[in-house]
Amino acid sequence: MREIRVAVVGIGNCASSLIQGLQYYSKKRKETIGLMHYEICGYKPENIKVVAAFDIDERKVGMPLEEAIFSPPNCTKTIEANIVPSNVKVSMGHIFDGVSAHMKDYPDERIFLVSKNRPVDVVKILKATGAEILINYLPVGSEKAAGFYAQCCLESGVSLINCIPVFIVSNAEWAGKFQEKKIPVIGDDVKSQIGATIIHRNLVKLFHDRGVAIDRTYQLNTGGNTDFLNMLNRERLASKKVSKTEAVQSVLNVPIPSENIHIGPSDYVPWQKDNKVCFMRLEGRIFGDVPINLELRLSVEDSPNSAGCMIDAIRCCKVARDRKVGGVLESISAYTMKHPLRQYPDEIARTMVEEFIRGDRER
Ligand SMILES: NC(=O)c1ccc[n+]([C@@H]2O[C@H](COP(=O)([O-])OP(=O)(O)OC[C@H]3O[C@@H](n4cnc5c(N)ncnc54)[C@H](O)[C@@H]3O)[C@@H](O)[C@H]2O)c1
Repeated sequence: MREIRVAVVGIGNCASSLIQGLQYYSKKRKETIGLMHYEICGYKPENIKVVAAFDIDERKVGMPLEEAIFSPPNCTKTIEANIVPSNVKVSMGHIFDGVSAHMKDYPDERIFLVSKNRPVDVVKILKATGAEILINYLPVGSEKAAGFYAQCCLESGVSLINCIPVFIVSNAEWAGKFQEKKIPVIGDDVKSQIGATIIHRNLVKLFHDRGVAIDRTYQLNTGGNTDFLNMLNRERLASKKVSKTEAVQSVLNVPIPSENIHIGPSDYVPWQKDNKVCFMRLEGRIFGDVPINLELRLSVEDSPNSAGCMIDAIRCCKVARDRKVGGVLESISAYTMKHPLRQYPDEIARTMVEEFIRGDRER
């Protein structure tokens, strides 16, 4: 069987949904509901194998991966309860700035509890397990930790898929280093299947394309998982706001003045758990300067919403490795990430991905 050997940093809700999903789709071989592609260049979801995992939580470190993904504070919906044992145990990662101090004010079952184990040699494990791709699912604001794991990728020749809003793949200096070493990379900040970002981008584009002046817009998001708890610390949020706001502004020729656009995580509502609720509003003017307002409420389980995008990103990354193509994979980054090196409208990004899969586009 052709394998794609993947390492994961941060065994939180997103990792849980992804790992459950790999097994869910391997059983439902002909089932394509929820996936954009069942097969990419011969690779199916079942070809993706997690060979290494890193976390810092005492309820996850040292545990078999298939148990760790269901350990608190993870709280996403279970789509596949019985995961076939992988023989992977979660290794102790390097903490750096992964854990926000404000978490100590909340109950243990909702926060990260730092393990006393010694951090492992990440490069050594990546090499020993034959990992080809490392997925970064660290908490928002983990600038130093994200940089550390990216450096480990450079040292071990492993590709990085950076799912968080720390700008690595979209940073010219980092991108240049991966290009130099001919390592394919995808990022930054994963864009969910039907999440607030893709809806907001497309509504703003619709208004713009149909001649509507957009005067003001907001996107307020609430959730009850550790991602939302972590983001209560506003100091960790700067790049998340940039990533989410630029994703919307980039579909317009002239950006909305910054005082008239507000996008961001807005509050933590514990009982929502992994259910994210987004409130969106667009105010504008149509023909004859007549006002129009649009209000939208999206309710969606946050973590499965990004897992399908990841399954495509992982396979495109592997295809690039097979083709010996290195550096930033522009097409799949633009399609599945909020903050790629270069933004494209979603339908163009989608065409670019199809061209890449067919082999008509290098990146
Ligand atoms: N749809 C989505 O869910 C979505 C979309 C876009 C971006 N993201 C981003 O993906 C990331 C992961 O989201 P999540 O919901 O899985 O978060 P989570 O809080 O459930 O998981 C984070 C995990 O990282 C671990 N961790 C903390 N510091 C670490 C370190 N230094 N080394 C190793 N592990 C460490 C924690 O113990 C936890 O298990 C977040 O940054 C989130 O903003 C998610």
